[in-house]
Parts: sequence; structure tokens; C-alpha cells
Amino acid sequence: MTIKITGTGSTLPEKKVTNFDLQELVETSDEWIRERTGIAERRISTGDTVATLSAKACSKALEMAGKTAEEVDLILVATCSPEMLLPCCACQVQDIIGASNAAAFDLNAACSGFLFALNTAYVYMQAGIYKNALVIGSEVLSKLVDWSDRGTCVLFGDGAGAAFVEASAEDIFRDNGRKVGMECMVQGSDGTKGMVLSCAERSVDNAFIAEKQTISPYIQMNGQEVYKFATRQVPACIHEALDKAGITVEDVDMFVLHQANVRIIESVAKRLKADISKFPMNLDKIGNMSSATIPVLLDELNRGGRIQGGDRIVMSGFGAGLTYGATVIVW
Ligand code: UT7
Repeated sequence: MTIKITGTGSTLPEKKVTNFDLQELVETSDEWIRERTGIAERRISTGDTVATLSAKACSKALEMAGKTAEEVDLILVATCSPEMLLPCCACQVQDIIGASNAAAFDLNAACSGFLFALNTAYVYMQAGIYKNALVIGSEVLSKLVDWSDRGTCVLFGDGAGAAFVEASAEDIFRDNGRKVGMECMVQGSDGTKGMVLSCAERSVDNAFIAEKQTISPYIQMNGQEVYKFATRQVPACIHEALDKAGITVEDVDMFVLHQANVRIIESVAKRLKADISKFPMNLDKIGNMSSATIPVLLDELNRGGRIQGGDRIVMSGFGAGLTYGATVIVW
């Protein structure tokens, strides 16, 4: 059996917000943001929702795969910023695109969400439960950001990416002898570090509470702790995934990492002793879009012709939870 990505799609809100725009809001500078993060600008929604962004990305992925919405078996939306608790975003997407035959649900593993969703779709297909899935990473983080907190507001952006994943009964091999599809996945979580990067939803407010709690609805982050976690955990889980697949860093053509900070990506490359040219980046233009970063970058690379059949790609991310994961696929 081969389970492969046959379509990708992505979409970004039109509104660009540069570092210079942020200088007007908080005490920061273009120089500080570029040096510490590598980010120059990000896209911010002025009306798009997680569901509408998801639907646009899905339509592009379906078009590339040559499939109709009615043919979709499963819709998985990875998001930590849905507009609605009920119905879930995946059901809203189902409604917008008209995927009337799909089962749909959301999954929240923050910035690792797309990989966790891809892995979930994969095991459903491997078990023979579904033949295909739309896997989406979509965020409107701008509504979770405290725009007076310079420690976080400079980092995040909005957008969505999708992948259409299909199973076929026979094994498919590329000219270089590699078998197409997912080779290996590793995913993990460390809930003991959960409050290092958090965002509360709402407090309990009912007739039986004497004193109402007030909570901040915005992202709270200890940046240095997240940084340390990422630079240690990402290379470790990539090594674990490569070991499981029985391959080495040299056997990998491209590392598609969560786009949080250029320094984190450079540090991961250094720890893996891999050439930085194998680590494509787009965070300068769009910042950190949590679960959307990996599928948006994957779509850019795919549409730009930078991924060839037979390429081995490692996707890896980390984020709130704290969560982390690595997935090895042959395109
Ligand atoms: O998807 C996961 C999401 N989270 C992450 O990826 C976060 C990972 N962490 C990071 O990327 C980095 O830790 C940050 C970019 C968030 C911060 O960079 P840093 O090099 O760790 O800076 P810092 O927190 O040590 O702060 C250094 C200084 C501080 O001032 P003092 O105490 O030295 O006077 C901060 O108050 O920079 C100050 N600072 C800023 N200055 C200008 C913090 N944010 C800003 C800002 N502009 N936006």
C-alpha cells in the first residue's frame, strides 16, 4: 500500500503587516525583530476566519489532486485558534466546500498540529478505514495575540495550508528506488511544560461560583524556555525518526521545519550536522502561523517545483503543549 500526498494548497490573508508597522504599536524595531527571529512581515486577517482560510486551501489541494469535494472521506483541521468551539472548524469546512460524504473533526496540538493530523490520517488509511483525507493546518492567531505585548505580537501571523492524502493498494516506487509515502513518524508531548506557552479560553462562570475568576484570553509565552525546548527536542525527534526508518541525515533531501525563528532552524541544522541549504524557509514574509506553517511551506515548495518525485522530506515541528513531532516521507 502507498499513502501519498497528491495535492497541496495554501492561502494567506491579503493584509501585510511589516515590522515597521509594529514599531507604531509597541516599543520594538525592525532590526530587533529581524535579528532575533528572521521575520520581516506577516499576514493578518481582517475578516477571514480559520474556516474560510481552511476552505480556500482545501479547494486548491483538491484541484491539484483532481478530486471533487464529494470524494473526500475525512477532513482533519489542526488549529488552536478556531472561531467556534461548536461546531468544530472541520465541520464548517465540510459545509463550505460541500464535502458531504466526509467525517470531520478538529485536532489541537498547536504548532505540531499539522503533523499530528497527518499522522492521524495516515493510520486511518493504513487501517483501511478511509481511502483519503484532507489534512489542514489553519490559524488566525492575530485574535489570540495581545497587541501590546512586544514579546509575542511580533512573532505570529495568519494563514492556512492543506494536503490531500490518498491511499492506493499497490506500492509505488520512484526511479531512485525509494518507495513513495510515509516512512516513519515520531510524535510526543511534555505536559509538565504546558504553561511555558499558553492561552486560556474562558473561566468557569456559573451560578454556583462565589467569586468570578478573571483570565487573560491572550497568548502568554516564556520565549526562552520554548527556544531551549525546540533546539533540543526537534533534532532529537528527527534523529529518532531517522533511526526508526533506518536512514541517516545524509539520506534526507529537505527538512521542512516549523517556521518559528530562523535561529531555531539554524541551530537544528547545526545539531543535525546538515547543510542549511536543505532547510527552506519562508518565515521572513509570513512569520509563525502555528499549525499552518508546515503545510504552507510544503505547498510553496511543491508549487514552486522545488520538490521532485523521489525526494525524501523530513517535516518537524514543536509548539504549545509542549508538543513535538517528525514525519519522514518520500514524495
Ligand atoms: O511556535 C512556537 C512559538 N514560540 C516560539 O517559537 C518562541 C521561541 N523563542 C524565541 O523565538 C525567542 O526567545 C524570542 C524571539 C521570543 C525572544 O528572543 P530572545 O533572544 O530569547 O530575547 P529575550 O526574550 O531574551 O529578550 C531580550 C531582550 C529583553 O530585554 P532586556 O531584558 O534584555 O532589557 C526583552 O525585553 O529583548 C527585549 N524584547 C524586545 N525588544 C524589542 C523582547 N521582545 C522585544 C521586541 N522588540 N519585540
